[in-house]
Amino acid sequence: MSDKTSNQMWGGRFAAGPDAIMEAINASIGFDKRLAAQDIAGSRAHAAMLAATGIVDTSDAEAIREGLLTVLSEIEAGDFTFSTALEDIHMNVEARLKEIIGEPAGRLHTARSRNDQVATDFRLWVRDQCDAAEGGILALMKALLGQAEAGADWVMPGFTHLQTAQPVTWGHHMMAYVEMFARDLSRMRDARKRMNESPLGAAALAGTGFPIDRQMTAEALGFDRPMANSLDAVSDRDFALEFLAAASICAMHLSRFAEELVIWSSAQFRFVTLSDRFSTGSSIMPQKKNPDAAELIRAKIGRIFGANVALLMVMKGLPLAYSKDMQEDKEQVFDAADNLVLALAAMEGMVKDMTANVANLEAAAASGFSTATDLADWLVRETGLPFRDAHHVTGALVAMAEKKGCDLSDLSLEEMKSVNDTITEGIFDVLGVHNSVASRMSYGGTAPARVREQVARWKETLG
Ligand code: ARG
Repeated sequence: MSDKTSNQMWGGRFAAGPDAIMEAINASIGFDKRLAAQDIAGSRAHAAMLAATGIVDTSDAEAIREGLLTVLSEIEAGDFTFSTALEDIHMNVEARLKEIIGEPAGRLHTARSRNDQVATDFRLWVRDQCDAAEGGILALMKALLGQAEAGADWVMPGFTHLQTAQPVTWGHHMMAYVEMFARDLSRMRDARKRMNESPLGAAALAGTGFPIDRQMTAEALGFDRPMANSLDAVSDRDFALEFLAAASICAMHLSRFAEELVIWSSAQFRFVTLSDRFSTGSSIMPQKKNPDAAELIRAKIGRIFGANVALLMVMKGLPLAYSKDMQEDKEQVFDAADNLVLALAAMEGMVKDMTANVANLEAAAASGFSTATDLADWLVRETGLPFRDAHHVTGALVAMAEKKGCDLSDLSLEEMKSVNDTITEGIFDVLGVHNSVASRMSYGGTAPARVREQVARWKETLG
């Protein structure tokens, strides 16, 4: 039995090496090499602790820590040959360490297991992704604030059922997304806070008989504390699921906005012009300018939802503690995180660059009898009519305008009076879209003054 055929980490118990198919299904190095930096940081913290507690000689621990830096620089420089036979990032790093420093490398794995090692690496990686998502969300919120501030009093149609409902302000619409992304931000921060505990030192599943210092390794890796239960530490992936859940909700918000941008930039709407930098042309139709970035955001979001479901499926049937199924936790999370960050950046770019077509927005806001509710409200306020009756009178006026093919404001006072004779000249004040939005001063309403308050509040919060 040569070293080549049986595994160098556990070859003692094995007479033969794995079948090629076994190697193919078993190896994770193809993707978990992305955890290299985290793996090495975890191992360096572990080695320092082994020395501090007297479990390993200081000189051996120092050789390990130095050697690990060499391995890291090789990986970062692209000078590292990853081996499938060595299965995963943990064994690839350790094997190379042995080549570099020799015998002391064998002491690194004292009082730990790949189970707590991978749980630690992956937590560190997902924690970084929470930070990356936070940065992306903040940048997008700032871009939205810029649009909201510029267009606090531009009017546009507000929709329900994608039918014109009431006029709203552009700023109000932008600020709706600021609120949504702010909740996404707080979900990410929340998830990060909860995941920030160290599994390292849980060892295979039961802890270890060596006098380790888990507080020390937790601190070295920026964790708030060690996890309190070794079985839990090696066997849960709820931290990754929380990230995916927060990512999914954020992605859903991105997708809704992307959908709006696709609609708004169409020739039928012409609410916005997307910049050339975030559009593409057609190879056959010279007139086309396509909102590809928005479409791709809308589509990529499916991968993030898929990752969330896939990991839930991986985990749902696993008895405690570690099962190899859990190796399937990584690729999906990697893909989801990459696409979330990309989608956030693309959305930020589009929002920053897009131009609202203010005249089109206003014309659209005034069409579709969008101020009918203002008319009904006026009847309640000025003539004391119960709202239900005012709704009925307004409905009759809308029908009249529709028949004539004009707007509500084009009806004469006489025509209005023929439906309800208490109506006076004052009604025309509320039929304009600017008056309509300005009147919606209730807290959280669309009035430009309210929008400006919210913009100011968020600018102060975000700095
Ligand atoms: N590559 C493995 C994973 O990602 C590391 C842990 C292996 N543990 C074990 N007991 N085989 O899950």
